[in-house]
Amino acid sequence: MQNFEAKKFNIPALKGISAKNIEEHLKLYDGYVKNTNNILNEIEKLSKNLSPAEHVYAITEMYRRFSFEFDGMRNHEYYFASFEGGSKAISDGPLKKAIEKEWGSFENWFALFKTLAKTRGPGWAILYYDEISERLINGWVDEQHLGHLNGLKPVLCLDLWEHSYVADYQPSGKAQYIEDFFANLNWGVVEGNFKS
Ligand SMILES: [Fe+2]
Repeated sequence: MQNFEAKKFNIPALKGISAKNIEEHLKLYDGYVKNTNNILNEIEKLSKNLSPAEHVYAITEMYRRFSFEFDGMRNHEYYFASFEGGSKAISDGPLKKAIEKEWGSFENWFALFKTLAKTRGPGWAILYYDEISERLINGWVDEQHLGHLNGLKPVLCLDLWEHSYVADYQPSGKAQYIEDFFANLNWGVVEGNFKS
């Protein structure tokens, strides 16, 4: 079976978020890649010469957890890649224009997205693009997978699990982590996601 490969990220020194925390966080990412592959390999093993009632609980439960592992892998790939190349402001290009069209101004969207990012509990704040309606849409995903919007393309993924910030900010420092995430963000990468 073909396995997913863990990507490598060239992450510069960041404001607020320590290299140690990034190192530990990348280990968690590797775990999502590993478990994505493990589930698919286990299902393949169990599905050899399968009769209808065989392994039904094992297989269905693995599929139930598959979206957690797969989306955990993909969400982190967007997150880590958005630090590569170092901090860069948003340009007056197509993404900023699309944000202004949807929310009136970049500042309006920014305030709204930072509010969304303060959702309680582990999950992700995501800016998506919907190719069908040609609109940008903000969304919240619980855990790694619950609430993803069908068919929409992630443009910007912000990890709000405590593992992404507690070692550097303490649990009460979530708001500062969100500010620092944006201070570290390479908007050029985010604009590239939107373009593609
Ligand atoms: Fe994470």
